[in-house]
Amino acid sequence: MAHQKVLVIDFGGQYNQLIARRVRECGVYCEVEPYTKGLAVAKQEKPVGIIFTGGPNSVYEENAPKIDKEIFELGIPVLGICYGAQVMAHLMGGTVSSATMREYGKTETNFDTSSLMFQGLSENMITWMSHTDYISGLPEGFRASAHTKECPVAAMENPEAKLYAVQFHPEVMHTENGTKMLHNFLYHVCGCVGDWTMGDYAKTAIEDIRAKVGDGKVLLALSGGVDSSVLAALLSKAIGHQLTCVFVDHGLMRKNEGDEVEQAFADWDLNFIRVNAEERFLSKLAGMSDPETKRKTIGEEFIRVFEEEAKKIGAVDFLAQGTIYPDVIESGTGDAAVIKSHHNVGGLPDYVDFKEIIEPLRLLFKDEVRQLGIELGLSDVLVWRQPFPGPGLAIRVIGEITKEKLDILRDADWIFREEIAKAGLDRDIHQYFAVLTSMRSVGVMGDGRTYDYTLALRGVTTTDFMTADFARIPYDLLATISSRIVNEVKNINRVVYDITTKPPSTIEWE
Ligand code: XMP
Repeated sequence: MAHQKVLVIDFGGQYNQLIARRVRECGVYCEVEPYTKGLAVAKQEKPVGIIFTGGPNSVYEENAPKIDKEIFELGIPVLGICYGAQVMAHLMGGTVSSATMREYGKTETNFDTSSLMFQGLSENMITWMSHTDYISGLPEGFRASAHTKECPVAAMENPEAKLYAVQFHPEVMHTENGTKMLHNFLYHVCGCVGDWTMGDYAKTAIEDIRAKVGDGKVLLALSGGVDSSVLAALLSKAIGHQLTCVFVDHGLMRKNEGDEVEQAFADWDLNFIRVNAEERFLSKLAGMSDPETKRKTIGEEFIRVFEEEAKKIGAVDFLAQGTIYPDVIESGTGDAAVIKSHHNVGGLPDYVDFKEIIEPLRLLFKDEVRQLGIELGLSDVLVWRQPFPGPGLAIRVIGEITKEKLDILRDADWIFREEIAKAGLDRDIHQYFAVLTSMRSVGVMGDGRTYDYTLALRGVTTTDFMTADFARIPYDLLATISSRIVNEVKNINRVVYDITTKPPSTIEWE
């Protein structure tokens, strides 16, 4: 089934992905293309609408990203956002000027609600602005449909030509009713019907996989993370036993996690191989304390183990990868990086005998991957799993790793997670875990002196994991967690909570 498609043309703005996500949240499929390819793609694919993103440039700069004016002559509705609005004004013969002061942040804005874009909304709303240049002269045929104190053209439109532009960012949550404005553009201007649902997507993806794979064999490295688990579920529905999943249990997972992953796939139609490689990894890591050395060792060993399993299976036709859309867009060119570098499987294709890579999730955002997992009936444990680093607990035991330390950490981390879940905070805190600092300090227990480990708890809220704030876990809850940990876990006599943001810290301690 072909979906209606909207084309988001990227002029280098920091919110390009957010725009695409908002469009999809409105039930409309969209793809992002760089401005250099925008016109060609629009002509070939005939999208129902086009959105220009913002960007850091000024339209008058020599190498400012531009697009051929022909884009406005295809009869396809266009919405320009921020720099995209200025590009439209400039190309259509209006004037863009540089203001002496930047307009930045939440801004009171006055709207003409007779515009299709602002239909049904209030006349005064807050928008999010971030610009120095502004549209000072309207192009012929356009009228202003919103203004602020500083900005005479906060929005403009030429409804006959189906051209619309907003100086502010409707995609960010600080703009009141921003998603409704995008919804208005999509449904009232572009004529979208909202045919992008995960149920439809799953059906189409399964048919596509069957057509592509035929009766070939597919190999997948399953980590138990959201992406690889959803991919396993999708492939299993599509091709059943033609799929082999190799799950390398490196012994660095959280408490019970290896069994949970195995259990979650017990009833699925696929070949599931679990490799218990704990001893192998621990003996490789013995005596190592430098974080980068530990990471590299684990990455390399992972490849060795996977390679050995792949050899046992023999030649396969396809290697499946859990690449998702943010990886595709981030590369900037529209060409996906073949393998996600932060997955500790980097370099796999060199070691495994296969003909082709398939990436069935490459058009989905993370939240869509989760929706797809739910649609396919994957267990909540896997669908809502918080991110977990490839090197696992090896980078949450500071310095040298031993089985004993890992077990202490696992028990403490388990209590932390259990209490957070009990308090109903497990989806509000985006990532939370315990770290065994390997530092010892003096304590007193009963009548005796102790000299035991200090455990650190880390909990963060974040949207993109590039920046993060520490989660404001209530003191009383921290008290319960701390008391349970020192009482129930041997060798811990002190618990601290990490109150640093990222930057300057990172989320993980190593
Ligand atoms: P940092 O510590 O860099 O972490 O602030 C950002 C996010 O990335 C995760 N992380 C990793 N994920 N392999 C992964 O798959 C890794 O080597 C790795 N290191 C960090 C981390 O858990 C956080 O979500």
